[in-house]
Amino acid sequence: MMQTHPWSGFANAHVFVAGGTSGINLGIARAFARCGAKVAVLGRNPEKAANAAAELGPQALGLAADVRDPQALGAALEKAVEAFGPIDVLISGAAGNFLAAATDMSCNAFKTVVDIDLLGTFNVVRLGHQHLRGAGSSVLTISAPQASIPTPLQSHACAAKAGMEMLTRTLAVEWGRQGIRVNALVPGPIGDTEGMRRLAPDDESTKRTASLVPLGRYGTLEEVANAALFLSSPLASYISGTVLNVDGGYSQGGAMFRMGA
Ligand code: COA
Repeated sequence: MMQTHPWSGFANAHVFVAGGTSGINLGIARAFARCGAKVAVLGRNPEKAANAAAELGPQALGLAADVRDPQALGAALEKAVEAFGPIDVLISGAAGNFLAAATDMSCNAFKTVVDIDLLGTFNVVRLGHQHLRGAGSSVLTISAPQASIPTPLQSHACAAKAGMEMLTRTLAVEWGRQGIRVNALVPGPIGDTEGMRRLAPDDESTKRTASLVPLGRYGTLEEVANAALFLSSPLASYISGTVLNVDGGYSQGGAMFRMGA
């Protein structure tokens, strides 16, 4: 008997991707669109949101709102639900970052990244929850290695992402009885992203970063998207509260590996 592919279940599903107007999150949105999903992407910049939706095709919607603004975010979620119906897959990936030592950062600079990454994620999943279809829906947050690896010049991102991962695991417990799975993805160094252009801006730092990955290279947008499809699909029906590294082993490197052993 012919088996249907587990990802064929995404055909006409409503996938809402906060932060989906660029980078890793746009890569994830593309993968769901290719599976026939109706994809809503949300970002701060209206032009980028419109361009992303145009690229994703006729079943896509571009929405502009800041995840730090619950009212604007709530209105955007309502627009998406009006267009595509209840949400099957809710993804929270909006993030902000810059390199700065703690002593070179104002209190507001630290707060800004916590506001976007941690509080913004709470806003997306809290306000998105009421629009989920229900049992079988999947919630995915996009974290970073900084959540578990203390990283110089990244105290704001380390603190925010660590909080985000604990929020994700806690909601997996709170929402489990509703049949809603909540997981986090942790992309390591991924090529062709704004994040890596900022964190490793030149050839030398790119080479050095790649050398810290046990697999010896940056990952691709598609490799992260594959993990997002898996975690949101029936193949992962018993997986909730997981924090999944998609990083070529980067977060397992350890001191000896980093010294070139
Ligand atoms: N070093 C130190 N402080 C910095 C900084 C840096 N490189 N960049 C921003 N800040 C400070 C600002 O000075 C400000 O603090 P102040 O009010 O005390 O002066 C605070 O952070 C907020 O900055 P602002 O630019 O007003 O905030 P914003 O909400 O418009 O944007 C970011 C914040 C993080 C999104 C912004 O840095 C940005 O646009 N980043 C590029 C996009 C990005 O980060 N993508 C994700 C990659 S993972």
